[in-house]
Amino acid sequence: MTTPGPAAVIVLAAGEGTRMKSAIPKVLHSIGGRTLLGHAVVAARGVDPQHLAVVVRHGRDLVAAHIAAVDPDAVIVDQDRVKGTGRATECALDALPAGLEGTVLVTNADVPLLSAETLRGLFEAHVASGSAVTVITATLPDSYGYGRILRAEDGSVAGIVEQKDATEAQREISEVNSGLYAFDAAVLRTALSQVGTDNVQNEKYLTDVLGIVRSQGLRVSAHLVQDLWQTEGVNDRVQLSRLGAELNRRIVEGWMRAGVTVIDPATTWIDVDVTLGRDVTIHQQTQIHGASSIGDDVVLGPDTTLTDVSIGRGATVIRTHGSLAVIGEGAMVGPFSYLRPGTELGAKGKIGTFVETKNAQIGPGSKVPHLTYVGDATIGEQTNIGASSVFVNYDGVNKTHTTIGSHCRTGSDNMFVAPVTVGDGAYTGAGTVVRQDVPPGALAINVAPQRNLLGWVQRKRAGTTSARAAAAASEDSPLVPEDSATVPEGNASA
Ligand code: UD1
Ligand code: CA
Repeated sequence: MTTPGPAAVIVLAAGEGTRMKSAIPKVLHSIGGRTLLGHAVVAARGVDPQHLAVVVRHGRDLVAAHIAAVDPDAVIVDQDRVKGTGRATECALDALPAGLEGTVLVTNADVPLLSAETLRGLFEAHVASGSAVTVITATLPDSYGYGRILRAEDGSVAGIVEQKDATEAQREISEVNSGLYAFDAAVLRTALSQVGTDNVQNEKYLTDVLGIVRSQGLRVSAHLVQDLWQTEGVNDRVQLSRLGAELNRRIVEGWMRAGVTVIDPATTWIDVDVTLGRDVTIHQQTQIHGASSIGDDVVLGPDTTLTDVSIGRGATVIRTHGSLAVIGEGAMVGPFSYLRPGTELGAKGKIGTFVETKNAQIGPGSKVPHLTYVGDATIGEQTNIGASSVFVNYDGVNKTHTTIGSHCRTGSDNMFVAPVTVGDGAYTGAGTVVRQDVPPGALAINVAPQRNLLGWVQRKRAGTTSARAAAAASEDSPLVPEDSATVPEGNASA
């Protein structure tokens, strides 16, 4: 049994994030297919707190709706007009049960690589040392912008000073405040009531709590982490991409260690919620997004982008763009396929080159090999769709459905004008425009008989290379007498 989690985690997400220069709140920007706030909430949930509170203000409605979607049990707390991390924390305490006791962890919504393990390490170190406050610190080569950790003569933590309030000497300190803390709940509440806004930014700083607690003779500790990525915040889009790349590097490495072959990790992007089976092989330039799940022995890529796609064991998907699609076991997709939402390809089926599918159920063993659009259709088992066919699903106003049975062989260059049904075992001729249902076992053809206007090119296109080629061919084998036109010229279409 694991030890019980903290009384609460408070995630601070009310700040503005002006340096993103974005219409959407900073904490709703994503890396690895999850928002910054989503990462913070997942890490917080990972320590199993009794309460999880998220403090919001900037972009309030958007952020609150996102919290409700990713973690419906989280308490959404509105920060009032008083600014600062201290005020944000105080608002959260006010929203939590009045007599809350035990440990409260405070984290920032813009620190996406922080793991639940690190938070748990903080919590356990805090409890074990009997401290009133423990802060995660890191030693950075460039500490600019961060709050600096002030150490007393004996090495204990004496307080934190913000960049903007620090003296020249204090700015030389390389140990910084990560903004991640463990507090005794009662001590935190009392200390926050004593924090003012007398600083350069006129904000109520959470960091001031540390000095106050220490002056009460209580123990304040630092919990130094070595993995600096875990404490790095996102303030602008340069950091967003830097942390996104590092997150991806970690995800891809994790999958390789779990039995996935990745030919080129640098150009392989895998979102946090993707699952991959054993002996999957991923070729270069492949992105797997959303809640995609990839079965054992699947071969993916190169040049493939999949979002919310589920693939059965042993399938091969090459140079494909797909979303919200299901690919059966042993199926073949690509190269150059476009799978739109609602595509379901059965086991050992095929969607081939320059084929687009949408809302299309293609049964086991059925093949759509070349140059075809399949939209709003159901195709049975073991059917072959001829090259260059179109499922004509749109009459300009409505979209309607086409059903093709099992074991059908449809000819090349067919138009299936929906709504229409082709029965089991039916065939269609090349170039058929299927406007009426085809009974099982029938051959449907509706192409007009072909007419050859003999000698037409030599008469109507005299002097062209085509006419010369035709003349040469008739000398070799005089199949085409000059005067053998059998159709009145007025009927010839040019
Ligand atoms: C804060 C710390 C600093 C630390 C740094 C680490 C304070 C006073 N300073 O500075 O010591 O080195 O984080 O990244 O705490 N927020 C609110 N309400 C507010 C203001 C901020 O919820 O009124 C939230 C923000 O959304 C963000 C977090 O608190 O998630 C930190 O705020 P930010 O403005 O980034 O603080 P820093 O100035 O970076
Ligand atoms: Ca920050």
